[in-house]
Amino acid sequence: MAQKLLSRYEELKAQVNFHNYRYHVLDAPVISDVEYDRLLHELKEIEASHPDWITPDSPTQRAGARPADRFEKIRHPAPILSLANAFGGDDARAWLERVKKLDDRVEQAKFIVEPKIDGLSVVLHYRDGLFVQGATRGDGEVGEDITSNLRTIRSIPLRIPVASDQSSKISVPRYLVIRGEAYIPIQEFENLNKKLEEAGEKTYLNPRNTAAGSLRQLDPVLTASRPITLLVYQIVHSEGGKVPTSQWEILEYLKALGFPVTDVARRFNDLDSAIAYTETFNAGRDDLPYEADGMVIKIDDLNLAADLGFVGKDPRGAIAFKFPAREVTTTLNDIGVAVGRTGVLTPFAMLEPVEIGGVVVERATLHNFDFIAEKDIRVGDRVLVKRAGEVIPYVIGPVVDARSGKEKTYKPPLKCPTCGQAVEHFEGEVAWYCVNAACPAQLLRNIEHFVSRGAMDIVGLGIKIVEQLIGAGLVKDVADLFTLKKDQLLELEGFAEKKAVNLLGSIEQAKGQSLNRLVIALGIHGVGEVMAGDLSRTFGDLSALSKASVDDLRQIEGVGPNIAESIVDWFAQPTNQKLLKKLKAVGLWPEMKKNEKKKEGVFTGLTFVVTGTLPTLSRDGVKEFIEGSGGKVTDSVSKKTSYLVLGENPGSKFEKAKSLGVKVIDEAELRKLVG
Ligand code: IVH
Repeated sequence: MAQKLLSRYEELKAQVNFHNYRYHVLDAPVISDVEYDRLLHELKEIEASHPDWITPDSPTQRAGARPADRFEKIRHPAPILSLANAFGGDDARAWLERVKKLDDRVEQAKFIVEPKIDGLSVVLHYRDGLFVQGATRGDGEVGEDITSNLRTIRSIPLRIPVASDQSSKISVPRYLVIRGEAYIPIQEFENLNKKLEEAGEKTYLNPRNTAAGSLRQLDPVLTASRPITLLVYQIVHSEGGKVPTSQWEILEYLKALGFPVTDVARRFNDLDSAIAYTETFNAGRDDLPYEADGMVIKIDDLNLAADLGFVGKDPRGAIAFKFPAREVTTTLNDIGVAVGRTGVLTPFAMLEPVEIGGVVVERATLHNFDFIAEKDIRVGDRVLVKRAGEVIPYVIGPVVDARSGKEKTYKPPLKCPTCGQAVEHFEGEVAWYCVNAACPAQLLRNIEHFVSRGAMDIVGLGIKIVEQLIGAGLVKDVADLFTLKKDQLLELEGFAEKKAVNLLGSIEQAKGQSLNRLVIALGIHGVGEVMAGDLSRTFGDLSALSKASVDDLRQIEGVGPNIAESIVDWFAQPTNQKLLKKLKAVGLWPEMKKNEKKKEGVFTGLTFVVTGTLPTLSRDGVKEFIEGSGGKVTDSVSKKTSYLVLGENPGSKFEKAKSLGVKVIDEAELRKLVG
């Protein structure tokens, strides 16, 4: 019996590892997330009852122990070398002429061209196929032991070969040390920054620093939340088994073992063709999913390359063919401030126009006001600006030596540059916000949020129509929706009698929505669904809520000082007070019985988070379902979450739940719990 379970356990480990590989390395999953999750769930159940069986290659063991207070040093089994640079074809041809003189075999050499990803060099050690250690490059001789952090990168196999069609025929050396470049794809980087910006947190400066910083975090759980991946390209050392002796075969071999390997490497019989390839590559550089600062041209025959030796830390057998630099200096003429759709104020540089890699740049991001202060960037400064891939150009910092003394220190605005209202800052966040619900810069988004399904649920009022209404000057705040007239709508393009009547009907219906929906709809910073319900039950209507003090608000469970302050600030804004008056005047003034009891049931005391699309229940449906049995639904996964309810196309909540070990169930299992 135990034997049978043990072999099932081994089978599950292999299956989950294989599906991780399909998903994270090949980007081609062969099962759905829910099926994957079932396998993982079964695996976890076995591990819970037989903790002694757990091996380090189990997919549940990604976020391992946190190292003490610093990383241990690791001596590399062979030097981790760097590369000499070539700037252009002539440089590269000169390199080849030099090495030809050292060895006749170079005349016949073939060349491999690989992208040179701007990331962080990492070294991975495998013993008997098991990932046992990982290090940074360090000084090339000694690096830092970042094993726990590297384990969280899902494209790194914990055991090789990863079960695949070819792997059964492949032998793995008893000890294998490989090298690759860890990085954050550009798109993932931008998504990460967008999320941080919306949360009012500090955004990251560029993908490379973010990847490097994340891998040198002492807490692997933090590393796990960063979208780091890698590409491998070198065998540094091997013992007890044969490995290929040409770079082309190394790439194929590493790929067959289940490692992520670039699929744009090419082999050429002569250097000129290799150079031509780097040039076509440079032309399409903006379309690459990662930042590359050049290509690496490598002599394919690794025995020959090794015989050529090194100059310092640079091997003679390969060269970095650098793309034209995308960093330039120019003058910072002024600093502008943009108001994002969430009300965040973001400073940007107004530059003396300058060409960077074929594109004229006159604006660049300055990230946030803290960045300007920390770097002491002054108006009139010469500044270093970088443009990389699709990332928005950004200011790296001032050229202090170029100062004339006429530069002016910058002071962040106290008023919103769009609407002129005072700006707010929330404790623990870097961003400054405009919290005026009627600020034109945020109007579209605020109305979109106001009418959305989770808020006032005004059917038929899509973003296109909202744009039309704002464009025609009919709506300057959300209250204006309720005084729209049929004649006004009929003037808009695409509106006929029926559409106008229907829209006015659904707007009218929204007056019957509950207080908690209206509180959600107002879009107060930090107030989500759950809190809106608590506030509504406590205060009963908006006038009582608007008079609440920070102390009153803090009496409510889950309301911390920051949110309390954010609520008080929101109601203190004169424009928001005006909006409330208008809402009352148009008859949108729901009330709720104070202290209305929450329902009790099998879910009392349990907290749920929902992610992805469920087979039958809608967003509101699943919330009602859970609350109907006494459960609580919250927006973000934490250690306190009892269950994550998983649907199709889940978001990052799924990853977070997995890393925290939160139980994951699907809709069917949720229904079963209620019985
Ligand atoms: S080969 C002997 N290949 O570029 C092997 N390096 O500027 C020497 N890099 O330190 C390195 N992509 O961190 C090689 N496909 C690639 C690379 C690559 C990125 C980095 C690596 C190296 C740096 C040298």
